[in-house]
Amino acid sequence: MQGQPVPVITVDGPSGAGKGTLSHLLADALGWHFLDSGALYRVTGHACVLEGVSWEDHAAVAAVARHLDVVFTTDRNGEVRVAYKGSDVSRAIRTEEGGRGASTVAVIPAVRTALLQRQREFCQPPGLVADGRDMGTVVFPDAALKIFLTASAEERARRRYLQLLDKGENVSLPRLLEDIEERDARDSSRSVSPLVPAEDAIVIDSSRLPISDVFSAVMETARRRGLV
Ligand code: DC
Repeated sequence: MQGQPVPVITVDGPSGAGKGTLSHLLADALGWHFLDSGALYRVTGHACVLEGVSWEDHAAVAAVARHLDVVFTTDRNGEVRVAYKGSDVSRAIRTEEGGRGASTVAVIPAVRTALLQRQREFCQPPGLVADGRDMGTVVFPDAALKIFLTASAEERARRRYLQLLDKGENVSLPRLLEDIEERDARDSSRSVSPLVPAEDAIVIDSSRLPISDVFSAVMETARRRGLV
């Protein structure tokens, strides 16, 4: 006899739409596991830099992804820490360069295949909130609830700008907007697992909605579907 399937909520969408914040809030409220799939692509890109592998050498990048020695832990403050080969890379992978590397290696089909099983291993009782681009379409097509969270490129650039200013980083808003538009184009136009909502996803535009309102609406839907 098979037991009940482990429930999954997927949160997909472009960078800066608030997926990370929403996913953390959901995982905390439900007491479920959390998958930051973007971090796996970021570690892959960063590992290539550390190993001297060019992002353009697709076979070598895929080999890095297949043998990726990555460990996720949660520190005392509840922050997720990411270690590559035993060294903490949590900050290094969150830079703009880390985002560019992730988006560049993510177009390689063999990289996506290499990371597929690793992502599915996060699906453990009592449940999983999975944050990414293709969680509802490819990785967890049978998820109980699929959210596609979006916002205008201008609003996402503005949010990122304020975040980086807060961290004391010197950034230009037009440059950030350009980066976001470039990354959106790459993520949406790739042939494998492009960034598109699953047919059965609920699409939410957070441009004018505080994330707390988005969270309440998603929790209400989760309740209606018997997930809470
Ligand atoms: O969510 P993020 O910004 O950390 O993701 C970084 C990049 O990784 C993003 O530009 C595209 C890629 N990515 C992906 O292709 N598929 C995912 N499921 C998650 C991220």
